[in-house]
Parts: sequence; structure tokens; C-alpha cells
Amino acid sequence: MNVALSGGAPLRGELRVPGDKSIAHRALIFGSLAHGWTRIAGLPRGEDVASTIRALGTLGVAISRNDESAIVMGRGPDALDARGADVDCGNSGTTMRLLMGALAGGRTRVRLTGDASLSKRPMRRVSGPLAELGARVHLALGDRAPLEVEGTPLAGANCELKLPSAQVKSALLLAALRARGTTRLTGMLDSRDHTERMLPMFGARLESRDGEIVVEGGQRLRGAFVRVPGDASSAAFWIAAGSVVPGALLRLRDVGVNPTRLGFVRALTRMGAKISVLPLAREGEPVADITVEYAPLHAIELTAADVPDLIDELPLLAVVATQATGRTVVRGASELRVKESDRIEAVARFLRAMGATIETFDDGFAIEGPQALHGAKVQPQDDHRIAMAGAVAGLVATGETIVADAECASVSYPEFFDTLGQLAGQARR
Ligand code: S3P
Repeated sequence: MNVALSGGAPLRGELRVPGDKSIAHRALIFGSLAHGWTRIAGLPRGEDVASTIRALGTLGVAISRNDESAIVMGRGPDALDARGADVDCGNSGTTMRLLMGALAGGRTRVRLTGDASLSKRPMRRVSGPLAELGARVHLALGDRAPLEVEGTPLAGANCELKLPSAQVKSALLLAALRARGTTRLTGMLDSRDHTERMLPMFGARLESRDGEIVVEGGQRLRGAFVRVPGDASSAAFWIAAGSVVPGALLRLRDVGVNPTRLGFVRALTRMGAKISVLPLAREGEPVADITVEYAPLHAIELTAADVPDLIDELPLLAVVATQATGRTVVRGASELRVKESDRIEAVARFLRAMGATIETFDDGFAIEGPQALHGAKVQPQDDHRIAMAGAVAGLVATGETIVADAECASVSYPEFFDTLGQLAGQARR
């Protein structure tokens, strides 16, 4: 599906974004490892979360879903068994990597597969640290899926994380819960902390203290209720659009504002954006209404320390940087090259097609703004976030922008182009 859009519309309104994908994956997986029922409200409709539900179904977990709510009938981790069937994780890295940790201490051998993009992404980053607990994971072609997790008894270990990856951290925490003895995680722990916040809701005890997380093995999880807030990474497209489209004023309701996910809001605020975050009283993860209004922006520089809290929003930051005065530089973000696409290349390609100049590095990019963009065809490389970032660029470009294969946005945000149509006017072809 091609979507045609053009700038010029005032972009005003109030909206809700889909439930948080990271939190939803965790609620479904932890619910499947727990004993008893887990009730989830606010589940997003995106394909990634559907992949997790399907994968858990193949592992024998009964999940009844009714639009945005679901009930997971957890029978404990030993009940997970695919009985020889492949467990297809689709496009979802979080599904595959968290399941590696969840299945490592199990009793069966499970083969995890993914689509073409997921089969190109590095998996040793998870299997390597898991091996320190005794896990046996067999990778294809050295570092890739399809892979096989050969369930085996695990023993707690001291593990130093070499990457600030929440997926790696979460896989290790899930494995540690099933291991014999104590696991101590140290090193690069500063990544999104949804797992550390949610596991205690399922009855797990984790100790987080200066620079380490300590987990006792042999813990039993029990079912819980999880309310999933709006996804900060989906909200980011509107926060970006609201900041760069003259005359824009958008209000986003019930967005998750966990500080480990708000790096983009902090970066834009440093650039001069007018964003207000109004906290709401809710249990669990922090939630807020966010208002964003157009404002002139100036350049900033981001380094490795800033990256984990806005990793998924960096393609969008490149779009915003074209509208900011001065040279915006992002370094320390080589992880962008191993996401659903090589996001440094993908964003550079469509911005150049729109007439922008962008310098790329192995680990980031630099953009001197402001730059005038003109409409062009955006090829998202089958990457949901690139399709939506391209659409935001189209809102500040002259003439018509076509987002090709726009349906790939459904991985995280199936409603995105409809909402954009209501707010700004656009046509499907
Ligand atoms: C995620 C962690 C991040 C992020 C991904 C979701 C998670 O990946 O990019 O979209 O839910 O844990 P890494 O762990 O590879 O940094």
C-alpha cells in the first residue's frame, strides 16, 4: 500500500496511541511463565504483539484475547512445550530474545524462527551471556536465527552486560529466576527497565542496587493484572510532528512516561520544543498526558550515554534535526545498524531523496539545519519506524510524499496512517 501525503495542514487534535509494545510483550511472556491467570488491559493491536501471542500459543499457552484485553492462563514455565513445532517470532526481536531466556532453563528443545529481517539480527548477544548460566542455545550461521534452545538446568552466575540492551537484560533475568543459586548482573544495565518494574508484580523478588541487579533462583511467579499505558515510542511520531509542523497543537492521552523511555522528549525539549507532560495518578508504570506545540528548534549533540533512552526514536530525531537550526550530531548509536533495518542507512536514504544533506557515521549521523525538504518516495525497507518517520518528514516537505509499503507500520502502529489521515489529510493508493 502506498500512502500519499503532503504538508500544510495545521495538525491539531487529541489522540491516544496504541499500548506499549515492550510492556505488552513482557506481560504476555511473564503471564505464561506464571501460575494462574494474568489479565492484561490496553494491549496494542500491532503485529509484534500478535507474534508473541502466536509464539506462546505454539508453546501451549492458552491466551484469550478480546481486542485490547487478554487473559493468559499460566501453568508455570515447565508447561511451555512446542512439541517439535517451530515457534515463529515474526519480525519481533523482543519476542525471540526474551523467549531465549524464558526457555533456557526448561525441559524441552525449542526451535525459534523469524522473518527475513529478524533472521539477520545478532543473537549471540543473548546466547553468550545466557551460556554463563549454563544455557545451551544453538545458533544458525554463527550468530543468527533460526536457533534452538535446548532446555537444561541452569546455575546462577555473575554476568557483566556488555551492551545497554533491555532485551539481553530481560532474557538473563528470566533465566536467572529458574536457575539454582544467585545471579548478579552488572555492567551496562541502563536500558528500559520494564522487566525490573513488572516482575515484582508477578511476585518475583529482585534487588536493584548501585550498579547491580541480584536475583535468587528457583522463584515461582503468580498471575497478575497489568494495565499497559500508551507507547512512548508511538507517541514520539506525534511529538516530532507537533514540534516541526508550524501551527501544530497535539494532545496525547495516557502515554507511558517511564524515564527510561523519555530520552526523545528530553532531547526535543533541549532543542527548544514546547512539550508539557502532565502526570496522571495510575498504578504501575508512570502515565501522563503530553501536549506538544510547534516551536522553532535548535541543534543538539547526543552521545552514547543518551542513546538507550531514545534508541527507537533516533530515525525520527534525524527528521526533526533537518528543521532545527545548527548541526545536530548523534554518535554512539551503532545499534541502529542492527534493528529491523539498518536505520542509519534507511533514514539517510529517504532524507537524501527528499533533498536533505546528511552525514553518516558507523555509529550515528550529523545534520546541519534548517533544510528545505521536497516530497519524494520513501522506501521503508520493511521497517515500521522508517515508514512512520518518513511520513513525518513528508509533513514538512513541499509537494507530495509517497510512503511505499506503508502497511509495515502495522508491526507497532496499525492505526498510524488512519490517524494521520484524520489529522492532516492523506490518501491510500
Ligand atoms: C526493547 C529493547 C530495545 C528496543 C526494542 C524493544 C525491549 O532493544 O530497541 O524496540 O522491549 O526490550 P535492545 O534491547 O536491542 O536495545
